[in-house]
Amino acid sequence: MRPPFDHELHLDPGEVINGRYAAIRRIARGGMGEVWAVRHCALNEDFAMKMLAPVYGIGEDTLSRFELEARVGASLGNKSHYIVPVIDHGAHHGRPYLVMPLIHGPSLEEKLSKGPIPVVMAARVVRHVGRALTAAHHDGVLHRDLKPGNVLLVQEDERWFAKVTDFGIAKLGRGALISQHHSTVAGTLIGTPVNMSPEQANGEEVDEHCDIWALACLAYRCVVGTDPFHGRTALEILSKVCASAYEPPTTVDVGLPPALDALFARAFARDIPDRFHNAKSFADAFTLACGDESISSPPEVRNTPASMAPPEDLHPE
Ligand SMILES: Nc1ncnc2c1ncn2[C@@H]1O[C@H](COP(=O)(O)OP(=O)(O)O)[C@@H](O)[C@H]1O
Ligand SMILES: [Mg+2]
Repeated sequence: MRPPFDHELHLDPGEVINGRYAAIRRIARGGMGEVWAVRHCALNEDFAMKMLAPVYGIGEDTLSRFELEARVGASLGNKSHYIVPVIDHGAHHGRPYLVMPLIHGPSLEEKLSKGPIPVVMAARVVRHVGRALTAAHHDGVLHRDLKPGNVLLVQEDERWFAKVTDFGIAKLGRGALISQHHSTVAGTLIGTPVNMSPEQANGEEVDEHCDIWALACLAYRCVVGTDPFHGRTALEILSKVCASAYEPPTTVDVGLPPALDALFARAFARDIPDRFHNAKSFADAFTLACGDESISSPPEVRNTPASMAPPEDLHPE
């Protein structure tokens, strides 16, 4: 039996969580939880902790979804260098939390809020995120909310990596390697409108193509600086998504490589058979369209998922 959820609980700096971690400062407040920098009391090391927000309408459904996020993060984080790992999970006054390494780099959203990034860097970000998706899809996991706010830029020694986080609305496909006690009600709109594929927007059953579509939205945002499908309301955005109405990159910025126009025409094709069918093929085609020959994919060992390939430095600056 879980202890009752404390709706009124607000964390304060210095507060000890579950007898193990001391709260340092709140980093972010999002749709589902708050992210805090915390210190492990025994180890004296700092970590990031995501905890369900007190305002969030808590139910069995939300709790099992959070537990799924923890299990997916732990399992995939062990397998791919491009996924932020979950390393601990527990509850404080009935509020579940998960613990991750504390990342000091900005999110891709913060980076892109200053404008588009050079195509060479964009190609690297997209390839790193593509590898994270390849690892998730290999294990039967769909992210379903891939966006720049869920990609963190991480510095390790002198090297930079893009890492995917927030498997908060992940879904397990058939044959997934992780078990799930929770399932999404059919027809529920899940995800973020600007990154949603037509089939996601229509509430249809989704597969890997929804993440590949979101990866293409992220790639477009990196090089163009705006979302491909934008508008004032969710309805306006989703009707553009369903009509595949976006501006080809070179009509926004004539300096961009012309090959990007054909690439996005395929990535944003209305019908699934006309699109890319895995994250790696999109990331490779994007790299090629960006004209980045210096970072051709490292040789892959047969039968080894692309996600397992050696880490590749990002060099974002
Ligand atoms: N491991 C981490 N280290 C540092 N900051 C993080 C970490 N994880 C998340 N954050 C920050 O918190 C924000 C929200 O985290 P996220 O997992 O996306 O939660 P939400 O479900 O609220 O969107 C991120 O955009 C990032 O700024
Ligand atoms: Mg998020």
